[in-house]
Amino acid sequence: MKKLEEYVRSIPDFPEEGIVFRDVTSVLQDKDSLKMSIDQMQSLLDDVDIDVVVGPESRGFIFGVPIAYNLNKAFVPVRKKGKLPCETIEMEYALEYGTATIEMHKDAIKPGQRVAIIDDLIATGGTIEAITKLIESLGGIVVKIIFLMELEGLHGRDKLKGYDVEAVIKYE
Ligand code: PRP
Ligand code: ADE
Repeated sequence: MKKLEEYVRSIPDFPEEGIVFRDVTSVLQDKDSLKMSIDQMQSLLDDVDIDVVVGPESRGFIFGVPIAYNLNKAFVPVRKKGKLPCETIEMEYALEYGTATIEMHKDAIKPGQRVAIIDDLIATGGTIEAITKLIESLGGIVVKIIFLMELEGLHGRDKLKGYDVEAVIKYE
């Protein structure tokens, strides 16, 4: 059987010149790699005590929900600004290309809850750094951060010092 990393399609100069886009859709559209990706990310939570999985829109939802469901835990979505209907907290952050503002519902995390953050990819780390701040401002404890892919050359981990960060596939 092919290895998981062999299913990731890499597209040069998307969405901008100079960016190599690591396309997760090619992983999702094959039943073997879809299963491997979820299973391998989920295995990084073996023996980790969590209450809630948090995942950012949109690719974080794809992996966060099945893992939360399999572990019988709750799932909290982090959304791009303007999508959530109740009272929110927000944070602006920089991406590999551009900036964005994300929001969470204020009542989504209760003080003392233990949180795993799950996303498809870490590039600059800006998205997940912003999410750690949102979770902590609500009193949550970030106990684990899991990615399918890590772009090591962008040093996103430097923004996540002190957290337990793991990635299944690493690119230099
Ligand atoms: C992508 C990716 C991560 C983030 C990584 O999401 O899914 O969430 O960028 O970049 P960073 O480490 O530099 O913050 P994007 O905001 O493009 O949204 P999408 O999932 O809706 O495509
Ligand atoms: N999100 C931010 N940078 C990315 C990249 N190089 N490939 C896929 N998704 C990304």
